[in-house]
Amino acid sequence: MPRGTRVILVTGGAGFIGSNFVLDWLAAERTPVVNLDKLTYAGNLENLAGLKNDARHTFVKGDINDRALVAKLLREHRPQAVVNFAAESHVDRSIHGPADFVQTNIMGTFSLLEEARAYWSNLKEAEKSDFRFLHASTDEVYGSLGANDPAFTETTPYAPNSPYAASKAASDHLVRSYHHTYGLPVVTTNCSNNYGPYQFPEKLIPLMVVNAAKRKPLPVYGDGKNVRDWLYVGDHCEAVRLALKRGRPGETYNIGGNAEKTNLEVVNALCAILDEIRPQPHITHHSSLITHVQDRPGHDRRYAMDAGKLRSELGWMPREQFDTGLKKTVQWYLDHMAWVDGVVSGAYRSWIDLNYGRRERA
Ligand code: NAD
Ligand code: TYD
Repeated sequence: MPRGTRVILVTGGAGFIGSNFVLDWLAAERTPVVNLDKLTYAGNLENLAGLKNDARHTFVKGDINDRALVAKLLREHRPQAVVNFAAESHVDRSIHGPADFVQTNIMGTFSLLEEARAYWSNLKEAEKSDFRFLHASTDEVYGSLGANDPAFTETTPYAPNSPYAASKAASDHLVRSYHHTYGLPVVTTNCSNNYGPYQFPEKLIPLMVVNAAKRKPLPVYGDGKNVRDWLYVGDHCEAVRLALKRGRPGETYNIGGNAEKTNLEVVNALCAILDEIRPQPHITHHSSLITHVQDRPGHDRRYAMDAGKLRSELGWMPREQFDTGLKKTVQWYLDHMAWVDGVVSGAYRSWIDLNYGRRERA
């Protein structure tokens, strides 16, 4: 890209939300993207294949903990913003191995903040006030709700319950402190469960679609009545874009789909879609594949987001309805089984054995 062009630095832009964000950003904006991603099991350059001939996208393989690399990227590209999606993101993996979550989510965010602060403090005044550090976080930092509790707001006290949620909460606190202590213009977004294209098939919706298409059991944890709020990933990307442009420095914004569903409702809904669009011999109802298995330890019962602040300050509302978004998503996975087979490596099979092998039927 030409020298002197303003850019944004996106981290984790080869993962599920990050790659959707980069694709969405470059479709909507002129500003180029430098994309820093370690390409862990969850990162996949195939997600960005559509950008092969787009000079506005520069991919750099690397770790957000590599401070020399981050400093070099900031020095050379002089971004007007850092958007941090890089993370270990799967709760079940954080239960089996929390160390990577501490390393990337906490230490990695700390490294990025330190380098961003050093870069930002040497900018000219106008550039300094325009700069943003946007940190993408989760609703899971707020803990678990009872059935009749009001939805989480930006002032709900943090009460993370899994190592994943705790590591994200710690990173949110660091981000907050860099604003209050050093004046770094940060914006934090806390979003509910996303679904859509390019989600690694270890998460509920893609795992269930892929298993059902292959006539494998659909492993629902516990009684299946845990509630999540679901948001189509494109709506999340739009909310982050808005928060980046017009969010107030130092503020946090909740993002949610206003679509609370129990896990059983989600799985039954995607089974009904499969019954309709991909009937299979000898399976009248895909829901007959549902198998209740041993629950996740410390499984949060309910999440719900109040996104009123984002709506009133920035005018954001989700565009996608859950039923239409889910149908599009199921169809996307059926149409992209080659992508699924590409990410389902030997390492994926070991993960399935580790997470599900010792989980007894409930
Ligand atoms: P993901 O696991 O699909 O992708 C994470 C990406 O980060 C991968 O490309 C991976 O290679 C990269 N990465 C991991 N460690 C890295 C490191 N040390 N340095 C550089 N890159 C690294 O995750 P996702 O679902 O796309 O989530 C993205 C962000 O959004 C995360 O911060 C997550 O906490 C947050 N979030 C996710 C959801 C959701 O439903 N998926 C909801 C709310 C918030
Ligand atoms: P997940 O997609 O892992 O997201 P999160 O834990 O971050 O909300 O899981 C969503 C819900 O689905 C959660 O309540 C756990 C449940 N779940 C199952 O019942 N079976 C599964 O195989 C998986 C992966 C998740």
